[in-house]
Amino acid sequence: MSNVRPESMERITTEALAQAFIAEQVAAVKAQVGDKKVLLALSGGVDSSVVAALLIKAIGKNLVCVHVNHGLLRKGEPEQVIEVFRNQMDANLVYVDAVDRFLDKLAGVAEPEKKRKIIGAEFIRVFEEEARKQDGIEFLAQGTIYPDILESGPVKAHHNVGGLPEDLKFELVEPLKFLFKDEVRVVGKALGLPDNMVFRQPFPGPGLGVRCLGAITRDRLEAVRESDAILREEFAKNGLEGKVWQYFTVIPDFKSVGVKDGKRSFEWPVILRAVNTKDAMTATVEDVPFALLQHITARITAEVKGVNRVLFDLTPKPTGTIEWE
Ligand code: XMP
Repeated sequence: MSNVRPESMERITTEALAQAFIAEQVAAVKAQVGDKKVLLALSGGVDSSVVAALLIKAIGKNLVCVHVNHGLLRKGEPEQVIEVFRNQMDANLVYVDAVDRFLDKLAGVAEPEKKRKIIGAEFIRVFEEEARKQDGIEFLAQGTIYPDILESGPVKAHHNVGGLPEDLKFELVEPLKFLFKDEVRVVGKALGLPDNMVFRQPFPGPGLGVRCLGAITRDRLEAVRESDAILREEFAKNGLEGKVWQYFTVIPDFKSVGVKDGKRSFEWPVILRAVNTKDAMTATVEDVPFALLQHITARITAEVKGVNRVLFDLTPKPTGTIEWE
């Protein structure tokens, strides 16, 4: 099949166009897979969630969704995947709690690219094990979208469960492969997925693993997850969700002296990052209101265990990258 978007394909900008696309793809998927089973790695990100919802519509329980919780997801994400897909859409969802496996493999590893490799390789291993437990799978669905094919920009292609062994090479089902991100969101909304899933900001495959700087420890990982949840909550409350392209917290692997409850403390800082960009090649820093930064600082230092300072990263890209690792 060609990997070039047909010129005749209209840009999907409305609910009606999305519904037409959905009907067309449901028919195409049915024709492709018949009554065979399809496997999907469902992260809960926009693309895999839209593929899941589309395939549930087409083949119901013959879609086997595997959600791997590697311990590096944001607060509430695994719970939301279970709620939306298993409880609301009645999907055939396998939830794999692989938190200890990933964190044990990552223990003591400080080098960013090594961390990425371990996370990627372990993900394939867990997914492979789950695939082997399933009988009669003949297809693998992937949330490949058109920019992944064009490979534009530095946003790393992250949809392909490449690296599966030869005997697990399935025929691919890629219903979104000619869509741009904004079109995927329109389709996701038309499929009834919740707004906070469809309009979510980009999140790297290695997740919070590259925001817990250096060798990951469980206590700092929890602190990065909790502080990220506070930042997201405050951005949502203050109309910045959906306006700012990407925002998150980072925790370095050093402590500093402070005072808490009248006593000297020796705890970690949290770094806030909020950037805008078109293609992730360059980025500018969001001008977050100072009072909001102060409020977020007060909440993080009061609510997040082990944190006594909050810093705001003022660096555009270049010279900084968006992530810290
Ligand atoms: P940088 O930090 O290179 O990030 O300015 C550009 C965009 O790419 C995302 N990013 C990743 N995405 N796997 C991913 O799937 C990764 O290893 C990875 N590293 C960075 C980053 O969040 C930003 O949107």
